Amino acid sequence: MSVHAAQKRTTIRDLQAMTARSERWSMITAYDAMTARIFDEAGIPAMLVGDSAAMVVYGYDSTVPVTVQELLPLVAAVRRGSQHAMVVADLPFGSYQASPAQALETASEFMKSGGAHAVKLEGGAPMLPQVEALISAGIPVIAHLGLTPQSVNALGGYRVQGRGESADILKRDAKAFEAAGVSAVVLELVPAELATRISALLTIPTIGIGAGSGTDAQVIVWQDLVGLTPGPLPKFVRTYADVRTDISEAVSRWNTDVIEGRYPSEQESYS
Ligand code: KIV
Repeated sequence: MSVHAAQKRTTIRDLQAMTARSERWSMITAYDAMTARIFDEAGIPAMLVGDSAAMVVYGYDSTVPVTVQELLPLVAAVRRGSQHAMVVADLPFGSYQASPAQALETASEFMKSGGAHAVKLEGGAPMLPQVEALISAGIPVIAHLGLTPQSVNALGGYRVQGRGESADILKRDAKAFEAAGVSAVVLELVPAELATRISALLTIPTIGIGAGSGTDAQVIVWQDLVGLTPGPLPKFVRTYADVRTDISEAVSRWNTDVIEGRYPSEQESYS
């Protein structure tokens, strides 16, 4: 097969070009092949195999415990399940902070074994050496600023970031990452006005989550979007379906049919 075979996948450059044309775009989380295919067919151009898998797939109570070994098969599944979207792998806590060499080793694993097209990592200026090492190796990097859930223990909870003086640090970090060559910046849980200002400062795309409507793109955890996540949701989540109720009703009805001998029917059996 030619290395110049027809490019069917969205690339980071496609997304950057959309931003340059002032076209908004979306990125959704994905963790398995079947939903990745649905999102792909729905035309979502970028999928993030987020470390949110820690909570929504593995049942941990934060993103901190999830490992490379746990995320890697999910990245590979999303890659296999999709044909058009760019697949971004989230680097889990503890897999890149120690050194640029550690970051390169982890990111390479996600690109080689997982088939990711880009990686995302959390943190501000201290992560610049890591980012530079990845970019030098030809790995597109998305930086994650604002609320960085891997630092929840240091931040003291999931709270809005960038209010008051820390707004300047956020702006500086975003500019420094752009100068270092990152492909895009995720802004999580920051005041809308600040996110809008950062988006105007940068030429690379900003991808907001709980950051208002002034970013170039939006990202969301899919289970939040379709009403699968139990419990109260943050106010930035708009729920478009009630899949939790649908699934619950479907399995309850099936369970009753099994118990009462209505399932399977003759038509659902083989002679
Ligand atoms: O892990 C994740 O799902 C994320 C998004 C919320 C941006 O980092």
